Amino acid sequence: MDKIISIIRKGKLVAFCGAGISSESGIPTFRGKNGLWEKYDPYLFAAQDSFNNLLLTNPFSLRDFIVDIYKTILLAKPNHAHSSLAHLENAGLLAGIITQNIDNLHYEAGNKEVAEIHGNAYVFLCKECGHKTKKKKEEIEDFIYSIEKEDKKNKLTKELLSFTGICPRCNNRLESGVVFFGQELPSREIEKSYQYINRSLTMVCIGTSAEVYPAANLPYYAKEKGLKIININPTVNRLDEIADFSIHKKAVDFFKEIMAYLDANNYKNL
Ligand code: OAD
Repeated sequence: MDKIISIIRKGKLVAFCGAGISSESGIPTFRGKNGLWEKYDPYLFAAQDSFNNLLLTNPFSLRDFIVDIYKTILLAKPNHAHSSLAHLENAGLLAGIITQNIDNLHYEAGNKEVAEIHGNAYVFLCKECGHKTKKKKEEIEDFIYSIEKEDKKNKLTKELLSFTGICPRCNNRLESGVVFFGQELPSREIEKSYQYINRSLTMVCIGTSAEVYPAANLPYYAKEKGLKIININPTVNRLDEIADFSIHKKAVDFFKEIMAYLDANNYKNL
């Protein structure tokens, strides 16, 4: 930990985050025991074609999935690991966060430099003209409330279709800003990711299994560029193979230790 603290104090950090950082905010991870993909088949719910197919054939199962995910995300608040990353950015030590999470919690914690490579659950996009809009939590809550009660199949399909909304510029149907399996990652977010890595000397990987590509290439790219890799994860995972330091702790416990040290050593402004 002493070595890690001295690396963090030097700054030029980039964070690479996965579902594990939000698990202590009450959002389940994807893989492993009680993971989201144990409850819902990702090939049905996270691939665009089968998602669209469910919309018509079994909107009730799709509704349950959407309600489950959004209710969890709407209730979640940033935890100590998220807020520590915001402090590190404010203190000029963190170039940016590359996150695979769609829960918006890094922005809610106060980070400004965030590359959301798997999108954001509140964002909706027009594939025709590029218009992008971010829905308010209340809008999503109202929608969840209305679909939860619906018991007529056709009406539910219609309501689910109306959720994304219509582009105010070109009248096309907006699409979810969340990246489905097999879709390309958003180019602007990928560009930002490379900028953060290229400005950094150390990548701190937090709570990711690094099993999903192309996102999982980024720590390997960082390693090749000569960045030190710190891997924070309570369980052993593949990033341990390239990590200079592996800390098998929960993200919140790790950041409590780190931030307590920095606070005690005149990083009061953090
Ligand atoms: P995973 O569910 O694959 O991995 C979560 C990781 O977090 C595991 O390695 C856990 O050990 C670790 N973890 C659990 N609790 C933790 C805690 N308190 N502190 C730190 N780590 C903890 O989630 P991701 O790696 O984010 O993609 O998955 C990547 C992508 O797979 C997701 O973005 C999503 C999913 O399919 C799409 O939807 C496109």
